[in-house]
Parts: sequence; C-alpha cells; structure tokens
Amino acid sequence: MVKSNNASHMTKTAGKSTDESLLLTIEDLKVYYDTVSGVSKAVDSVSLRIKRGEILGIAGESGCGKSTLTTALLRLTQRPGYIAGGAIHFYPQEKGPIDLLTVSGEQLRAIRWRNLSYLPQGSMNSLNPVLRIADQFCDAILEHSQMSRREALNIVSDLLQQVGLEPHVARMYPHELSGGMKQRVTIAMAIALRPDLVIADEPTTALDVHNQRIIIQMLSELRDKLRMTIILVTHDMAVHAELADRIAVMYAGTLVEVGDVRQIFKAPKHPYTQGLINSIPQIGGQRVRMEGIRGNTPSPRNWPAGCRFHTRCTHVMPECREKVPQLLTIANEQDAQSKQPTLVACHLYTQFGAGGTHDN
Ligand SMILES: Nc1ncnc2c1ncn2[C@@H]1O[C@H](COP(=O)(O)OP(=O)(O)O)[C@@H](O)[C@H]1O
Ligand SMILES: [Mg+2]
Repeated sequence: MVKSNNASHMTKTAGKSTDESLLLTIEDLKVYYDTVSGVSKAVDSVSLRIKRGEILGIAGESGCGKSTLTTALLRLTQRPGYIAGGAIHFYPQEKGPIDLLTVSGEQLRAIRWRNLSYLPQGSMNSLNPVLRIADQFCDAILEHSQMSRREALNIVSDLLQQVGLEPHVARMYPHELSGGMKQRVTIAMAIALRPDLVIADEPTTALDVHNQRIIIQMLSELRDKLRMTIILVTHDMAVHAELADRIAVMYAGTLVEVGDVRQIFKAPKHPYTQGLINSIPQIGGQRVRMEGIRGNTPSPRNWPAGCRFHTRCTHVMPECREKVPQLLTIANEQDAQSKQPTLVACHLYTQFGAGGTHDN
C-alpha cells in the first residue's frame, strides 16, 4: 500500500499527539512572499515530524527555503512573507500541546527561549556591542524566566564552560571575541533555559575550518550531555554527516528525501541528494573531479511543473515533466534494516513500486 506524506493522521483529538516521542509536527506548511514580480512559493507543502532527542538536519542548496521554513516555526515570518497554509504543533514536556500558528503573541513570547530557542543565520553578529557578555546573558535570562539577577549571573560561567569558554569571557565585550567564540556565546545563550528544542540556522557557516570543527564538536557534546533536540539547518552536507541523526533534504521549497543520516549517505535515493553528496570536497582524500549538480535552482515565482528537479536531473523521464512526485516510503532490503525508513519524492521509485507507511 502506498501512503502519501500527510502528517495529519498522528494528531488526533484536540491537537494532542498520540505519539509521546514527537516534539514538533509540521503539516503541509506553505510560506510565500508577495513580490512585485509575483508570489514566491519559498516553502510549498512541507510536512515533517521532529522526535525528542534527535538532531534533524535540514539540507539543500542556498535559496531552497530552509530559513523561510525555520523562521515560520517560530512565527517570525516578516512581510512580504506570510504563512499561506498548514499547521505546526509543538509538544514541550512541561506544557500541553501548542498550536504555534494560532497561539497568542503573549503565549508565544512565553515559550520562546524557555521551550523553543532559535539561532538565526548570522546570530553571532547580533550580540549587543555595548554590553558585556554576562549582561547579555542576564538580560535574556531575566526576560524569559523567574530567576533573580544573582541567580542568572551564577549560571553564566557554568553555561560558558558548557560551550568550552573560560569564565572571564563573561566580563568581555563582543568585539573582544573571535567569530568562533561569539558563536559559542550565542549557543550558550540559546541553551541557557534548557529549551525542549533548539533551531540553529547555519551555525557553522561564515566560520573558518578550525572554528567550524569546534562548533561541530561542541554541538555533538551538548546533544549527548543534555539530550537536546536540535533542528540543524545547513547547506553543508559534511556538517550533517557529523551531527545529524536524520536528514530532510529540501529542494525548491519542498522535501525531496527524508531519512536516517547513515542510510542517506550510504545510499542516497533522490538524484538531488546524490548530487549534494557528490559535491562534498574530500579533505585529505584523493583528488577527484567534483560532480556537483548541473544547472541552477529555478525561481520560486515559477517552479517547474511536475518534479521541480526535472530541469536539472540526469535521470529525467517523460512523467517527471508533468506529474508531481509524492514523498513516499521506499521499501527495500536496506531500508528494512534501518530503524528509520527513507522517504523519497521521485518517479524513479514510484515506477518500481514504493510502498509502506511513512514516518517523516
Ligand atoms: N524577504 C523576502 N522577500 C522575497 N523573497 C524572499 C525573501 N526572503 C527569502 N525570499 C526567497 O525565498 C526563497 C528561499 O529563501 P531562504 O529561505 O532564505 O532559502 P535558504 O535558507 O535555503 O537559503 C529564495 O528564493 C528567496 O529569494
Ligand atoms: Mg538560509
């Protein structure tokens, strides 16, 4: 039996999740931008479930809609952007289910930071230049918790230590810190109140290789120590290979493949995912010609008909130009061995019989 990728079956009565392992569910989310030259469908029918304790990587080339998706999760979409449809439900441990698209602004402010932290792209450059690090922490902690200033100050050095920084960094100003140190500070701030979910958009981008390694190592330790759930957004597949438990690959505003990280790197199914993996430079390895992906990303104001990847795909078939492929579980020997089934939206697989349940 083939089932389509619609997450609605697992949110049953009154928005309550029937599955305790789920922390966030996204159903058929659409986020569009009104532009002078037309409507830009940056996120177009994305459904995804995030499980407690996992690092879910969101991959895809620049412009495929990753940041538009993550900002919508916190309802931070700004004009000319708007949420054109769908649902997002959040199930933090200490609170009841929260419908993130309809909850009041006040309630949303109460869960931001405390339950749901967000590190926007380039967040390390948004530290206040005239405040010492300790004061930035205190202001944020006091705004989102009942702690006293003294209590907040007491946890700062502990938090800095958790991200591998010396206590004296608390007395420094942002301009005295390197990019890597600033990024560690913003991560320490994001985890200060032990949120249920941290969303980090390109946390290693714009850092040199040395600092990228430090941040990857640190996020991996934090995940193991604090059992945090993280949505990790990056175009860098090498970072996903090191950190993610599962990967959701986005192309042209939609998901084209979702699955266990080892499975995806061992046997990527979608030609786009194969192209992304082939584009990873082999550091220290033999010099090989990078295959990459031919052509350019199409415009979100005018996505190609059928499979949006067909204009760049080396396996294109006649139906790819007409019929939209659904995100479906593919049943084969390898997937049966993996705990997480792989979902793929590609006619190469529907042709040969995709099937089974879905669990993205
Ligand atoms: N403020 C905006 N106005 C109009 N279009 C936008 C705006 N922000 C993003 N977009 C468009 O949405 C698409 C997805 O962008 P984005 O979510 O930033 O992708 P990614 O994070 O994957 O690089 C792009 O085509 C981009 O041009
Ligand atoms: Mg982005």
